[in-house]
Amino acid sequence: MQQLNQATASPHAAARPKASDFIIRPVGPVMGAEVIGLDASQPLSQDMFKRIEDAFLEYKLLCFRDQEFTLDTLVSFTENWGPLLEHTMPGQLRDGITAINIATNATADGKPSGKHPDVTAMRWHTDRSWRARPAMATLLYGVQVPSVGGDTLFANGTLAYDSLPEDKKRLIDPLNAIHSVDYSRKTGYGGPAATEYELREHPPVPHPLARKHPATGRRSIYCGCHAWKIEGWSKANGRKLLDEMMDWVKQDRFVYRHKWRKHDLVIWDNRCLFHAATPYDTTKEIRTMWRTVVEGGPTH
Ligand code: OGA
Ligand code: MN
Repeated sequence: MQQLNQATASPHAAARPKASDFIIRPVGPVMGAEVIGLDASQPLSQDMFKRIEDAFLEYKLLCFRDQEFTLDTLVSFTENWGPLLEHTMPGQLRDGITAINIATNATADGKPSGKHPDVTAMRWHTDRSWRARPAMATLLYGVQVPSVGGDTLFANGTLAYDSLPEDKKRLIDPLNAIHSVDYSRKTGYGGPAATEYELREHPPVPHPLARKHPATGRRSIYCGCHAWKIEGWSKANGRKLLDEMMDWVKQDRFVYRHKWRKHDLVIWDNRCLFHAATPYDTTKEIRTMWRTVVEGGPTH
């Protein structure tokens, strides 16, 4: 599994910056690059954003170190990528802020609550795949991070697809998986049930199992915990294939483990990556993340 070694942060030579203001350096062969020396809370020029966007498509995940965001500047930075999706999970909104989700295990008086704010996130998934237009990107800002645990795992669905045997590619290329928020919430780790709004606005929806990336045209395995069944297949056979795909995707050779440092801002491409939260001691340590989600397009 690829990990970022804190002592020797870059296993690769740093990419030469064209402008002298910031550098983008890959963190390993699986995915990911660090952006160093950029203040992402400031408005970006078109040229700067183009460099960042190109790196985002190439590396699929970017980590901006040492950022100082306010809620407003995090929203502005997110808007570079497109319109934000509102948060709909019950109990996760603060003071009418619907564009930012504050995911924390801190109580109102700042003590560890002993509860993980989103147990569903511990299952491998890709954000909002239960929508007809799933999330394109998610941004997570580490306001306070635990000293041990609470890492986020990311799996590269493109690499996983490319590594499949040819006959398996031919099998999955024409298939759709039906994604359902009702299904994933009911089979989760005891997280909140789907809201009436979610059920009404987002009935089960088909997405290609070997999804083509709209920008690069490359296919990725696309399923995760919201994938309920395979269109036109029996439930049992569909479940078997979906489980087989997830077992394939989460192999160490496709996975990057992000160890959070305070004030990291990580953005990832949900069209081709899976992710899963890992546990930490919610009774002793605080983990507070600000989260924004960028709406994506249709998947067909
Ligand atoms: C998310 C998510 C994982 C984590 O924000 O969509 O799944 O480690 N987070 O907090
Ligand atoms: Mn998620």
